[in-house]
Amino acid sequence: MYEAVSSRRSVRAFSDAPVPRETLERVLRAAARAPSSGNLQPWHVFVVAGEPLAELKRHATTRALAGDPGDEREYPMYPADLASPYLDRFAIAASQRYEALGVERGDPERPTKIAALNSAAFGAPVVLFCYVDRAMGPGQWADVGMFLQTVMLLLRAEGLHSCPQVMWTMYRNTVRDAVGAADGLVLVCGVSVGYELAGAPSVRTGRADLTETVSFVGR
Ligand SMILES: Cc1cc2nc3c(=O)[nH]c(=O)nc-3n(C[C@H](O)[C@H](O)[C@H](O)COP(=O)(O)O)c2cc1C
Repeated sequence: MYEAVSSRRSVRAFSDAPVPRETLERVLRAAARAPSSGNLQPWHVFVVAGEPLAELKRHATTRALAGDPGDEREYPMYPADLASPYLDRFAIAASQRYEALGVERGDPERPTKIAALNSAAFGAPVVLFCYVDRAMGPGQWADVGMFLQTVMLLLRAEGLHSCPQVMWTMYRNTVRDAVGAADGLVLVCGVSVGYELAGAPSVRTGRADLTETVSFVGR
């Protein structure tokens, strides 16, 4: 269990080796044991691979390279007034994230390059598009997060890696057209899935000290 947690990281360079459908079914069936308040299980996942994914990547990448600002957001990626310590953590992660992929901070094309890398799902052969019913509130969104983390940990048990991507919400109408999601569903994020590309640079992100995020009260 500790091994799955510590070896999970957001991989941004996947090989094109296909992921067997039975493996994904095994992972998703097991991940459905994730807890949810009232056992609502408020997630819906579209598993996209093969030609439908290739076509979706093409459409999203065309938008990214055109500098398309994206579809109207259904939820903000971050609070508008992100302050310390979150802003500091964000800045550190942002600087590490794409430099390993050769996108320098001072590059004027940086936003477009980042969008293009994301819209190609970093080369992943499968993307899980996770939706939640529009009627659901923050509690159910938290349930979806627990479910997705369970999926990502189980993928490690299968030798697979993942990268959760809120970026797909920028192209949510393109994703909706590809998967046929009903209007009542909100795209939470995509999760790219596959085998890590051999020799790809990897980043081990830091974490805040426990004293910053945990308070023990009593013994
Ligand atoms: C809901 C969610 C959305 C994310 N969206 C993106 C994204 O659009 N693109 C990306 O490259 N990484 C994305 N990430 C990955 C985070 O940057 C990453 O989890 C964080 O920096 C910690 O690094 P680690 O996952 O490697 O431990 C996302 C993570 C989560 C949980």
